[in-house]
Amino acid sequence: MSNSGKPELLHTFKGIPFTTRSSPELLKSLDTFDAREDDVLLVSYPKSGTHWLAGVITKLYNTQVTITSPIEFGDISRLEELNKLSSKRIIPTHLDYNMLPPNFKNKKCKMIYISRNPKDTAVSMFHYYRDNPNLPTVDTWTAFFDWFLKGNVVYGSWFDHFLSWEEHEDDKNILFLFYEDMKKDLPKVVKKITLFLSLSVSDNDIQDICKKSSFSEMKNDTEKENSDPSHTVCALTSNRKLIFRKGAVGDWKNYFTPKQNIRFQEIFNEKMKLSKM
Ligand code: A3P
Repeated sequence: MSNSGKPELLHTFKGIPFTTRSSPELLKSLDTFDAREDDVLLVSYPKSGTHWLAGVITKLYNTQVTITSPIEFGDISRLEELNKLSSKRIIPTHLDYNMLPPNFKNKKCKMIYISRNPKDTAVSMFHYYRDNPNLPTVDTWTAFFDWFLKGNVVYGSWFDHFLSWEEHEDDKNILFLFYEDMKKDLPKVVKKITLFLSLSVSDNDIQDICKKSSFSEMKNDTEKENSDPSHTVCALTSNRKLIFRKGAVGDWKNYFTPKQNIRFQEIFNEKMKLSKM
């Protein structure tokens, strides 16, 4: 990976690249994390719509909930901080299924996995690499495209991440969502989330929440600092202003050359041959 001028930004843990914002000590001790039965996990590969989903979910509760920063963000003291929280915890993470603290699995905590067309995810991540000082420098889309396909990016291969979670798609405590479905019919997806989380929310309130969760509203809120500008649900930045870029489906068409599209499709077909996607 070309990492000119910023060689210390990434380190590898269990074969997966992380930024130094996730300390090796924290990653090593995640297995000891004490989950609570009512924890809700918000899981995604970076740039899949995590903040959008987080925005919706927090508006659904009328009791006190805390959306924490990602479980893999920070140093070892993080686990203690999370332990001290007295309210219900909604915990974001970009970890793949295999790295998830086993306690969440044993206690059958509810987990929501959001996924997005990997081509749009790649383009979104390319811009994130360019704008986010915590990530290595990338010179061109062509170079980034190559890194993405090889899994030579933070959190590793999109394919491995997706497949590790898709294997558990039928687990009753895991809900699978797609960014594109949220774009198409947000109220329908929100209804699904309320059923999964056993929350009673009226149709009127759902409509209202959807309006407040549109791309423009969320972007405005961040710009006007109606929401905490230094709190994100992504371990790669604390700067919320880096999150709301375009919010569109199909932006990949503006970046992929026909040749890149064919190459991507070939790799997709090969890697995903056992997937239901
Ligand atoms: P783009 O870079 O394609 O615009 P994450 O939250 O996982 O980091 O994902 C960020 C992506 O979700 C960005 O994609 C961002 O614009 C998009 N996004 C954030 N809020 C959104 C919303 N309310 N509606 C649609 N897309 C949203």
